[in-house]
Amino acid sequence: MLSFIIEKDSVFASVAEKMQSLIEEKYPSVLKDSDALLTVSDDVTLSFHDDSSKVLGSSFSIDILNDEILWRLRHSGRSSEPVCKAVIGKLENPVVFDATAGLGRESLILQNSGAKVHMFERNPIIYLMLFASLHKSKSADKLTLLKNSLPVLSPYGSVLEVKKNSELPCVPDVIYYDPMFPQRKKSALVKREMRIFHELVGFDEDTVETANELLKICKHHLVVKRPSNEAPLELNVKRSSFIDGKACRFDCYYVKND
Ligand SMILES: C[S@@+](CC[C@H](N)C(=O)[O-])C[C@H]1O[C@@H](n2cnc3c(N)ncnc32)[C@H](O)[C@@H]1O
Repeated sequence: MLSFIIEKDSVFASVAEKMQSLIEEKYPSVLKDSDALLTVSDDVTLSFHDDSSKVLGSSFSIDILNDEILWRLRHSGRSSEPVCKAVIGKLENPVVFDATAGLGRESLILQNSGAKVHMFERNPIIYLMLFASLHKSKSADKLTLLKNSLPVLSPYGSVLEVKKNSELPCVPDVIYYDPMFPQRKKSALVKREMRIFHELVGFDEDTVETANELLKICKHHLVVKRPSNEAPLELNVKRSSFIDGKACRFDCYYVKND
């Protein structure tokens, strides 16, 4: 089961309390079979105990400016990153919605390659951790290593929820959609981060409906990330092209919504 410790004077306390209520209302079974504690103080950390820690490690938090991603930003870019080729292509500084922000890695890569990225996330724990990481990164020395500063995190929720409940920040040129697909490999080779994501998020069962709705919102195209060995999603618009990544593929669906 998941427990919370929220320090009252933490700068993240009010967002954390909202997320805690959301979890209790909408996701009561999240981490039900694990022994997990979410601590909100200067940082937001999820720690695992007993048997859960053997599978998931002892603790987890998001650091959007971690060394691995900073190395990747230094050594690759718009012309070599498959996600940039699929999302940005030949567009000049497109406005991009990352509909599935997760750890924020691909948002950061896209932003650093010239896109103006707005991130959306519907898992309350991931949202809170990403919120905290972005907040801390704004005053980190490492920020100067970025070409175009940080992507912007939208209010909590999916693109479709934010559109329904308030207003989208703008009309995006491109939407990037990277949902969780069922985990095929159960082995230790599955990265720890992915195992934690599968515990927290499970897999997204609404991919086709969501992708069809996202197609109506973007001006230029939608990109859907898929495992390389899986067929493209069959959407209301035909797939126009794709870019091959290492173990995945980026399927592009062009629209004419402007
Ligand atoms: C595979 S991860 C994305 C990883 C991300 N591309 C990165 O670079 O870290 C999928 C994430 O999207 C979130 N998600 C899935 N469907 C969503 C939706 N319709 N709206 C908002 N978030 C969604 C999940 O909660 C999960 O955090």
